[in-house]
Order: sequence, then C-alpha cells, then structure tokens
Amino acid sequence: MYAEQILTTAARYISRSITDILFSRIKAPSVPEQEIQRKSEKLQICLNNHLSKAVKWSEGVQFFIMPSPKNVDNDTLPLSFSSIPRKFCGAGSVPEVYDESFLVNSVSNFLVLGPPGSGKTTTLKRLLRKSLFEELTPEHNSYRAPLLIRLREFNSSFESPHPLLMRIAREIGLDCELKKAGEAKRFVGIKNKVIRFVAYCENEPIEELIPRLLHEMRYILYLDGLDEVTSEIREEIEDDIACINSLANSCKLVLTCRSGEYKRPHAHMSAVEVCDLSDSEIYDIAGKWLNSDLNSTLLP
Ligand SMILES: Nc1ncnc2c1ncn2[C@@H]1O[C@H](COP(=O)(O)OP(=O)(O)O)[C@@H](O)[C@H]1O
Ligand SMILES: [Mg+2]
Repeated sequence: MYAEQILTTAARYISRSITDILFSRIKAPSVPEQEIQRKSEKLQICLNNHLSKAVKWSEGVQFFIMPSPKNVDNDTLPLSFSSIPRKFCGAGSVPEVYDESFLVNSVSNFLVLGPPGSGKTTTLKRLLRKSLFEELTPEHNSYRAPLLIRLREFNSSFESPHPLLMRIAREIGLDCELKKAGEAKRFVGIKNKVIRFVAYCENEPIEELIPRLLHEMRYILYLDGLDEVTSEIREEIEDDIACINSLANSCKLVLTCRSGEYKRPHAHMSAVEVCDLSDSEIYDIAGKWLNSDLNSTLLP
C-alpha cells in the first residue's frame, strides 16, 4: 500500500472507532445518525492532517550545518538503549540492552533519556514510521493508533488547564470548551494556581474523556522533547502525562527528554538511556553519510 493510502485507512479506522466510543448506543441512544456521521467525517479529516504532518516530520533529519536533509529510512540506524540510565547505574549493576523495536513492542511506557544530539528525536521518528508502516495495520485486533506531539510547540502565552490533553483533543478533532470555574459542575485545581477555567471536551471533563479514549483505542502516544517545553507550563504538561499514565492503562507512551533535564519521577514509566555508539555503528553511519569518494579515503 502507498503511504497516502495507509494514512487514509488509518484515519478512517481511528475516526470510526472514536465516534463509536463517543456515541456508544447505550449512553446516547437519541443522537441522530447524521450527527454521528458528521462527527466521524470531521475526525477523519483532522486525523488525516495529523498523521500526514507527523509523517512529513518523520521523513528527514537535518541539523544546522547540513545543506539538505537525510532520509530517515535509508540514512539512519536503529540505536540501542540501556535499561538503567547512567545516573542510576551504580558499580556492579548490569543493565539490559534493548533495541528500538522493544520500545514499540513491549507493553511498558518508556522515558527515553540521552544527551543532546544522541538520537532521541531521530528514534521517535523511526518508531513513528514503524507504527504506521511496518507494524500491524488497522484491520488487526492489536493495532495501536499513533499520535505525535512535539512538546516544543507549546506556547506558554495562552494558559489553559490541561494543555497536553487539550492539544491531543484538538489533534484528534474533538470539540473543546473552556467554562468558567464558577459555572462548571466541578472545580479542577492545579497546585497553588487559581484556575479561572475548566476544560471540557465533547461535554465531558477533559481529564476523564481523553485518558478514556487513549485507553480504549490502545493509542501509542509519542511525546518528543520534555526538556523543550517552556518552563511556565512544564508542570501542567507533566501533570497531564501523569494523568494519562495512571488512567489510560492500555495506552502506550514513549516520551523523550535530555538526561540532565529529567527531574520529576513518573510512575508507570521505564526510563532507558540511548547507548553510546559502538565502533561498528559509527562505521555504518559514516558509510551512509559520507559520499563514496570520501568513503574510500576516510574509512579503512
Ligand atoms: N539513529 C541515527 N542514525 C544516524 N544518525 C543519527 C541517528 N540519530 C541521530 N542522528 C544524527 O544526530 C543528529 C541529532 O539527533 P537527534 O535525534 O536530533 O538528537 P536528540 O533528539 O537526542 O537531541 C540527527 O540530526 C542526525 O544527524
Ligand atoms: Mg531532540
């Protein structure tokens, strides 16, 4: 199947499944069929946009001195990950080494740590492509719908409750609404802040609906760059991650963060760290990246 067809099939499957969950017949027997159809179509368009943008992002890697991007499928290698991050690795401890497939296939949630430039974002790109193009297709029972959020994109100037959950809802195409706290049935407080608004999604408190959808859909949620979140909202983002972790048991989360910037422990997440490259991996990457003339002069 061509990439475009795969995305369309995935968006159609995910939108239908989410609409089924939202309008489950027992809970909403009176909703007209046309309204359900309209919602499903809206979700499909949003999901198609989301997946297309995510795929575009995952296609190449480029840093500032590179004249053009390299292709992720052809020019990058699978990295290895240590089951014990360096800072917790005491004398005598023997960490296990995982390959990147383990990060997708195991049921655990992973926090992928590593120094700047060690390949965390590139790994997420590779995993996202695996989830979409190599792993199970939507027809399969164990299919996990992928969702990608780049945490650097959060803009702290607009302060709303549950910024991550709101963002997930919008990417899926769900309607969100902020209600004045006084008018809402429940008051949601975050730490010492006075919250003026509470967030609703499809008329349900967002902190209930989104974890439920992520759980029932068995989503695989890729979150890139916890260290890149502006400091003003980092705590709220981490609260949302904790909320997903504790309520959405069947949702799988892969989060990346610089080793030194990981400060708050998260329950239900296994921390792993990108391993240093071996000589043969360095040789392989150099072979892929240097053009053939350089190759013959620089490599043994
Ligand atoms: N698996 C890989 N194979 C080949 N090159 C890689 C790989 N991972 C990273 N790189 C190179 O290192 C650069 C920085 O990687 P990146 O994933 O952005 O690091 P991080 O997110 O850990 O800061 C990439 O632009 C790419 O050039
Ligand atoms: Mg990165």
